[in-house]
Amino acid sequence: MIERPASVVKELLENSLDAGATRVEVAVEKGGAESIRITDNGCGIAAEQLSLAVASHATSKIVDADDLFRVETLGFRGEALASIAEVSRLVLKSRPADCESGAELEVVGGRAEPIRPVGCPPGTSVEVRQLFFNTPVRQKFLRTTQTEMGHVTEAVTRLALGCPGVHFSLSHGGRLVHDLPPVDDLRQRVAILFGEPLAESLIKIDSLDNDIRLQGYVANPTHSRGNNRMQYLYLNGRYIRDRSLQHALGEAYRGLLLTGRYPICFLLLELSPAQVDVNVHPTKLEVRFQDGGRIYSQLLGSLRSKFLTTDLVARGSVPQQPATDGDQDEVARSTPATSELFDWAKRQLGSSHRQDGPLVFEKPTSEEAGDPLRLHSVSLPTASVDREVADRGVAAGSPPILRADPALPPPRALQIHNRYLVVEIEDGLEVIDQHALHERILYETLREKVLAGVLESQRLLVPEPVDLAADEAAAVLEQSELFRRLGLEVEPFGGETVLVSAYPAMLANFSPGEVLHSLAEQLQTEGKSPEPRDLLDELMHMIACKAAIKFGDRLTPEEVESLLAQRHLAQDHQHCPHGRPTALVFTREQLDRQFKRI
Ligand SMILES: Nc1ncnc2c1ncn2[C@@H]1O[C@H](COP(=O)(O)OP(=O)(O)OP(=O)(O)O)[C@@H](O)[C@H]1O
Ligand SMILES: [Mg+2]
Repeated sequence: MIERPASVVKELLENSLDAGATRVEVAVEKGGAESIRITDNGCGIAAEQLSLAVASHATSKIVDADDLFRVETLGFRGEALASIAEVSRLVLKSRPADCESGAELEVVGGRAEPIRPVGCPPGTSVEVRQLFFNTPVRQKFLRTTQTEMGHVTEAVTRLALGCPGVHFSLSHGGRLVHDLPPVDDLRQRVAILFGEPLAESLIKIDSLDNDIRLQGYVANPTHSRGNNRMQYLYLNGRYIRDRSLQHALGEAYRGLLLTGRYPICFLLLELSPAQVDVNVHPTKLEVRFQDGGRIYSQLLGSLRSKFLTTDLVARGSVPQQPATDGDQDEVARSTPATSELFDWAKRQLGSSHRQDGPLVFEKPTSEEAGDPLRLHSVSLPTASVDREVADRGVAAGSPPILRADPALPPPRALQIHNRYLVVEIEDGLEVIDQHALHERILYETLREKVLAGVLESQRLLVPEPVDLAADEAAAVLEQSELFRRLGLEVEPFGGETVLVSAYPAMLANFSPGEVLHSLAEQLQTEGKSPEPRDLLDELMHMIACKAAIKFGDRLTPEEVESLLAQRHLAQDHQHCPHGRPTALVFTREQLDRQFKRI
């Protein structure tokens, strides 16, 4: 149970919190291998109880066997101090508030010295020196000071996030690492521990379902990690790892994060101790819920409904690709998308000049006309675009002339690079990924129709035979029921041929053969026995992706208009179904700042 200094820190801190401390100081030397001292202002231990405290199987927290079924304290086994004292030089000093003086007990490698009176403030202090001094094998397993200190810091962090009302401090080699004054709001603690940007991105969660309370914060999807270590889940103040709850969290962020990215959360779950068994894991890290399904649904449900009413837009930044160490919080300051935008702006400025009146983007020379950076007018009627010229320009494959008349609002939307739409919005500008947005809209429409069972499907006059590889045919036929829900009907036709008798209207532009091959491929990458729900979702993603306009497709002004007009059809139009943002916002203030106007 005591593997490393961090395990000692965790156990001692838990004891301090169980003792009702409101202030706990942790001071370590050499990553805790040399010494760990934890001082609290809790209830203290009476002199005559000191030897019991370090005895094996002695606890003040459980009186009878029934108590084990409603554990309300972090500790309950009566083992921690005894096992720490076994492998270190431990000095326990304590004084209950109502005693005049304190008492001290030293235990060296499990051997207790006589108890001595000592002057000390109310509360308890435990010093653990030379951990594993008598078990060299375990000492050998200790890592570098830096690594051990990392674990110690994490142990303090876990407990500190679970008890925001308690003042914690951590110092290493006399240097203060963290000072965490008591706070009302967990967000403030997150700000000190992980920085303001993450704290500002937090979305508050508060739900009460009968007697189960879930509250705390989850991070906006702009903040994520390459692993699930930033998922701080607490059950009645105890930090836990729970695969089912982690799964619920992942489900809630489905489509909001890129594959391989994990959500960040700080969530406190409170329920009656009788509904959970905490005595199933040696370090109490895992617990067993009486009704895990209900808690799963509550977590997933409350996050989902919160996300529906939250603006999850990526403000002027996009998450970077997964970092190799997977540990960095990734919010890019300058991204490829940003620099592309500035490049574009720069080039446009290069080909314009100021006149006395309006700013004119001149018609480029013929060699520029072949440049993919051509500017297409996709403006709405409010913009001062010479529509006729614009349309002619587009039709002739050369760019239109845009006039920025100061008297009129500037054009509302531009397609650039045949892939992005630049839109002026009230407080800045928005750059939209045309494929990602369209894909999201199609995906949500499709999902809605599939769920309601009203997807348009065309029955083919003559069923179309499609030849597949043997394993593809088998995979496709096995899932024919699922395909039917997507408006695609397939039947066996002998050998490796399947017959397509009905076909989703949405895929009218693609041949059934092409679609079936892609679907079969998708089925095969899903592994052995995917959950039908996940599979259906994957297939819908695939269909939406296939049917959506491509990155690189040139759009007519009408197409752009219609795409933007459909935006409201998607509940989450800010992310494509794979979780990439569909739009980035650059506020006017950001631009002003970048151009050193403010
Ligand atoms: N900081 C403290 N303040 C007051 N009492 C303490 C403190 N630390 C330990 N004790 C007393 O010593 C006892 C033994 O502590 P120990 O950590 O070994 O066991 P536990 O907390 O009861 O159970 P577990 O082994 O699950 O942690 C506790 O039950 C408590 O009565
Ligand atoms: Mg304990």
